[in-house]
Amino acid sequence: MTTPTILFQKSDDAKADTIVLGVFEKNTLSDMAEIVNDNLDGGIAAFLKDNTSFTAKSGQTIKMTVQGQSYNQIILLGLGDPKTLNTQDTENAGGKLFGALKVANAKQTNILLNGSVDYKNISATELAVHLAVGLHLKSYKFEKYKTGDKEKTSGVKKIVITTNAHLEATKSYKAHKSACDGVFLARDLINEPPNTLHPESYAELVKKELKPLEVEVEILDEKKMQKLGMGALLAVGQGSIRESRLVIMKWNGNKKSKKSPLALVGKGVTFDTGGISLKPGADMDLMKMDMGGSAAVVGAMKAIASRKAKANVIGIIGLVENMPSDRAYRPGDIITSYAGKTIEVLNTDAEGRLVLADALTYVQKKYNPDTIIDLATLTGAIMVALGYEYCGAFANDNDLWETISESADQTNEKFWRMPLDEAYRKEMESDVADLKNLGSLGRWGGACSAAGFLEHFIEGKTKWAHIDIAGTAWWKSDKPTTPKGGTGFAVRTLDAFVKNSYEK
Ligand code: BES
Ligand code: MG
Ligand code: ZN
Repeated sequence: MTTPTILFQKSDDAKADTIVLGVFEKNTLSDMAEIVNDNLDGGIAAFLKDNTSFTAKSGQTIKMTVQGQSYNQIILLGLGDPKTLNTQDTENAGGKLFGALKVANAKQTNILLNGSVDYKNISATELAVHLAVGLHLKSYKFEKYKTGDKEKTSGVKKIVITTNAHLEATKSYKAHKSACDGVFLARDLINEPPNTLHPESYAELVKKELKPLEVEVEILDEKKMQKLGMGALLAVGQGSIRESRLVIMKWNGNKKSKKSPLALVGKGVTFDTGGISLKPGADMDLMKMDMGGSAAVVGAMKAIASRKAKANVIGIIGLVENMPSDRAYRPGDIITSYAGKTIEVLNTDAEGRLVLADALTYVQKKYNPDTIIDLATLTGAIMVALGYEYCGAFANDNDLWETISESADQTNEKFWRMPLDEAYRKEMESDVADLKNLGSLGRWGGACSAAGFLEHFIEGKTKWAHIDIAGTAWWKSDKPTTPKGGTGFAVRTLDAFVKNSYEK
């Protein structure tokens, strides 16, 4: 994949076929737009008078063709109200601008941001950087399996952002870019088809991606997991010809710290057919994204290792394929988890919680983390509650939730807090085993009872958050900074979380 080069400079003389100028609400021209307007003898103002559909809402764009200049088109970019413009709006505007550049086939673009505006919620550096982040995030493409001419689809080659804050912007963008690299890796993993991405190949891929960044990668195969007694994770994978894997990633960025590490745990079901409790056929192909939680963990490990975060973080992903077969686990089976708790299987499609249970126990036994965040495309019920817009976040500690929420705000990702409750935990107790994998109310409150199930596997006073990303790991249509398909959701929030809670 070739994404356009984005860079920052002070002088506005970059060679370009397209220039971009900011316009504020009520069609107030930015300083640079004003200057160009003068050069064009009021051409921009006249153009806006004729095109009343353009109101300079943030992210709105309109193209103007010009003659007799070194460039041949201007794209006017709405920036809304400078008093309320924030980093989120700016990223979204950047993403929408990328769409407009693509349509306009802008090969070389110069975005002219110099000038002084009285922004309240955003600095000149942030404006430039977050615009770049939005542009970059939207430029992602998954075209590995297209055999045609890929060049045709990638017309946007180079984007120069002209700003007085070019030095600070260049520096700040570098850190954001590592986070975006993590997002792109997560998207690649999610978009990869399930015939090529299965537990064994996935584990090897993680090694290949992260080892060069000095992340230690350890892979447990089925034999090792059997020896340990990971009966829950193994039960889910036993119907598949592909062997299950547990992958442990260690980033030791703060060797002096005595604090126990942060643990990130991800559900990595490389394909979820539902197993013997088979899913309906419609849209089943989408269940290749059932490893979205694990992809967020791998992406976050890449992000923090790329920027050499001064923190100690353990990533653990449970990789299985949930298939029906003569060897598959059945509804009615009673299995024994690594924690020793027995689980009555009532539905083989409620498999994610079984995988997570053993991964959670492993990380606690082995690393005694101070905080655990798990991520999973766990329930359809979270989509009933929140749709595709927000993920659901369950946390047993208010400070932990506050930091997650703050990190999400900084990175333009939407997290909504959901309840943990004794009643949900109780709902998961079985008549014949310690626990059951389906709540008494079935799918009613299903995201909450799933969290209640996981809570049975959190030991002592460990701070823990569970993030259900079933609705946000995959989008069926484009969003401002995310092309449709695998989103890489939560990578940036996790990266910001590490910064906010371990590096301050
Ligand atoms: N992987 C699914 C959840 C899911 C659904 C993710 C749609 C993304 C989009 C999960 O394993 C599942 O099948 N959950 C069941 C649980 C039920 C059987 C208690 C569900 O949500 O229907
Ligand atoms: Mg399932
Ligand atoms: Zn699943």
